[in-house]
Amino acid sequence: MYDDNITLLGVKKDIDETKQGEVLYFDQPTDGLKKFYIESYGCAMNFSDSEIVASILGGAGYGPTRDMESADLILVNTCSIREKAEENIRQRLSIFNKLKRQKPEVLIGVLGCMAERLKAKLLEQEKLVDIVVGPDAYRDLPNLLAKADEGDKGINVLLSREETYADISPLRLDSNGVIAYISIMRGCDNMCSFCVVPYTRGRERSRDAYSIVAEAKDLFDRGFREVTLLGQNVDSYKWSSPDDTEHVNFAQLLERVALVHPDLRIRFSTSHPKDITNDVLHTIAKYENICDYIHLPVQSGNSRILSLMNRTYDREWYMERVKAINEIIPDCAISADIITGFCTETEEEHQDTLSIIKWSRFSMSYMFYYSERPGTPAAKKLQDDVPEEIKKRRLQEVVDCQRLVSLEHNLADVGKVFKVLVEGDSKKSDQDFKGRNSQNKMINFPKVDGVKPGDYVMVEVTVANAGTLKGKVVN
Ligand code: SAH
Ligand code: SF4
Ligand code: F3S
Repeated sequence: MYDDNITLLGVKKDIDETKQGEVLYFDQPTDGLKKFYIESYGCAMNFSDSEIVASILGGAGYGPTRDMESADLILVNTCSIREKAEENIRQRLSIFNKLKRQKPEVLIGVLGCMAERLKAKLLEQEKLVDIVVGPDAYRDLPNLLAKADEGDKGINVLLSREETYADISPLRLDSNGVIAYISIMRGCDNMCSFCVVPYTRGRERSRDAYSIVAEAKDLFDRGFREVTLLGQNVDSYKWSSPDDTEHVNFAQLLERVALVHPDLRIRFSTSHPKDITNDVLHTIAKYENICDYIHLPVQSGNSRILSLMNRTYDREWYMERVKAINEIIPDCAISADIITGFCTETEEEHQDTLSIIKWSRFSMSYMFYYSERPGTPAAKKLQDDVPEEIKKRRLQEVVDCQRLVSLEHNLADVGKVFKVLVEGDSKKSDQDFKGRNSQNKMINFPKVDGVKPGDYVMVEVTVANAGTLKGKVVN
């Protein structure tokens, strides 16, 4: 089985499934510099933030290493989205702590959402942690590190209404040189009742449109061929120039980035069903280089549960948006996030989730069972009353249902020819390349002479199962 199956099958390969987060590094000489080692967990936003952190640390005389044992500074960029995410990070911290007992001069820092959620409590609970830094305070890292060097614990968890790190050029960590993330906004103003993100990432703010376009252009000039625009709710992107004469919404931003170069592919995540406009859909349809793929988390297929989740749309609204996508962008693939066993969910309401997966024909989904998060509206007002075994059984049913829908989706691709951006060797074999089509499906195919990562090739799909597409290059 190809590892890429994991995504196509829709089982999210995040902290819940992988014990270790991704180790990030970049290939640059680090002689004479102090060395930092960083692991990132959670969403793409966190991975993108780690690249900002790396850039800030570069300015403070730190270079990256992938070898934890030789590092002067060990950082973990954390996620709080589900309880299990935090448990896994605690396990990693205990490993870092062991190392610190042998090498007391090494500094340990906790960054990201768990730092923000637990604040100073984290320093009390994890005695060997030296610094705790929230997502809006990374500019303070050099100062906190200098203090920690003197033996003082450092903490900065201030959230900001303005910080977008717009002027910081991220250091592309562990990059294949072909695809990159660009953060276009931070925070979230929605109040989905299950979600901790508004508390860990603060208020929503959009980044200067010019700095986004400039970053995309710079990446293209350096050989990158795909950018993913990141935000918790990209459809509510809204930037105004300081003199208030220019206003840019998400559809307009997409267009500006698409115009950087026809060979630069644009993806984006995450869209919110209540906010995605026909304007955005028409912009996607208008530009060949904006990918025909929308990640549109449904969470539940039942209107009563959606209302308890405070998602501010119902089943009918979601279905209407799917219809609009299918009409305006006929070849568009749609994927989703789904939560099973939310507070008071009945068996019948769970069936509505299964039926919306089939009706919407999701190409894949990220699926989770509900995990109550302290401080969220659901934790305060609703009873987490679906027993864990039922949550898990429903999750299994959702996974099985999605697997069948993915299989059907993939089988329909056999015989079709897609434009694929080559990303590198397939996970399974260095005789094969992997690359994605516009619909975000990974396709593995035998290498051919003259084709290299960063090239576009036409690939005919020859074999498909629920998780994998295989093909061959055609002229
Ligand atoms: N901003 C994105 C989602 C970010 S969190 C959006 O609105 O779609 C990613 C996914 O994690 C969510 O879509 C949801 O499916 C899941 N999730 C969030 N909080 C959760 C919780 N408390 N328990 C289980 N899954 C959760
Ligand atoms: Fe969380 Fe909802 Fe915001 Fe997504 S839109 S980050 S689920 S509050
Ligand atoms: Fe996790 Fe924070 Fe992202 S809670 S999912 S890392 S915004």
